[in-house]
Amino acid sequence: MARVLSGVQPSGEMHLGNYLGAVRQWVSHQQEHDAYFCIVDLHALTIEIEPQHLRERTLDAAVNLLAAGLDPALCTVFVQSQVPEHPRLTWLLECTTAMGELRRMTQFKDKGRGQEDVRVGLFTYPVLMAADILLYDAERVPVGDDQRQHLELARDLAQRFNQRFGTTFVVPDAAIPQVGARVMDLQHPERKMSKSVSSPLGTIGVLDDPADIERKIRKAVTDTDGDVRYDPSTKPGLSNLLDIFAAASGRRPQEIASEYQRYGDLKRDAADAVIELLRPVRERHGEYSADLSGVRAVLETGARKAHEVASATYLRAAEAVGLLMR
Ligand code: TYM
Repeated sequence: MARVLSGVQPSGEMHLGNYLGAVRQWVSHQQEHDAYFCIVDLHALTIEIEPQHLRERTLDAAVNLLAAGLDPALCTVFVQSQVPEHPRLTWLLECTTAMGELRRMTQFKDKGRGQEDVRVGLFTYPVLMAADILLYDAERVPVGDDQRQHLELARDLAQRFNQRFGTTFVVPDAAIPQVGARVMDLQHPERKMSKSVSSPLGTIGVLDDPADIERKIRKAVTDTDGDVRYDPSTKPGLSNLLDIFAAASGRRPQEIASEYQRYGDLKRDAADAVIELLRPVRERHGEYSADLSGVRAVLETGARKAHEVASATYLRAAEAVGLLMR
């Protein structure tokens, strides 16, 4: 069985972009793959966060992943900081990474823009992400489109390490969905839906109640030409709604566009499709949040399993670079 790994930051409620771009793929991957899913709490430290919030959100993220359909009998769900090999391998990889490679990362440029004291952790963030992936010999990494560049770096680092120190890592491939890989903000369709940018009307949470989802889609920014057509460059708001509708219903956005004459009708049916898509997530969320000790037990087992794989890979890498083994 091919190995799959992916991760999500515990930085607030899971939104529709996370779900359509990544987590929904994880749920289907767990059936036919040896799948590892990681809540990346160390990555969340790269921006200011209250310690108590971080702890709560880490547990919330686990509840949300289980509610979204990850089944601990089929996959391994764990918290990054509970497997100490992640920062250990990061160091080995940092010692093979050039500053210029990290300076080119668009996410670093976006997040660091306007900040006076950019943290070193924000700069080296993609190397930690590469370590997350390479520790598990992951062949496939299901992510949204915004992680494409980070995946390229992980591939480069793996190839370079293998060339310099002998074959140590599996070179991973990104698995990016055809539709839903880039869900945009409903109020600002030129930027992606995100939990770090505060845009309450622009972001649909996977736990939003149906009335909120309906309201947010009804108020979504479109345009004034009144023509229902899929054209992301000239009609970004409407095309985003078509993308969301398509991803929620398993159809093509162009095909959906051809069936509507009025924005209002399209919005109504898109909202219904999203509400139905998220209904089971909301229902299961109630069950898991009432059993936090059960969720903690899932994470405990997950960390143990993840550690077994990660420690073997780390030792291989440490020996390859010439560290003296005990
Ligand atoms: P994060 O926590 O920002 O997002 C988790 C996943 O959701 C996807 N995503 C989106 N997809 C479509 N439309 C959107 N608007 C949208 N917003 C987010 C992301 O592409 C991602 O797949 N660096 C990663 C976490 C990470 C990771 C890893 C991922 C750390 N280590 C190892 C894969 C493998 C991040 O910040 O994702």
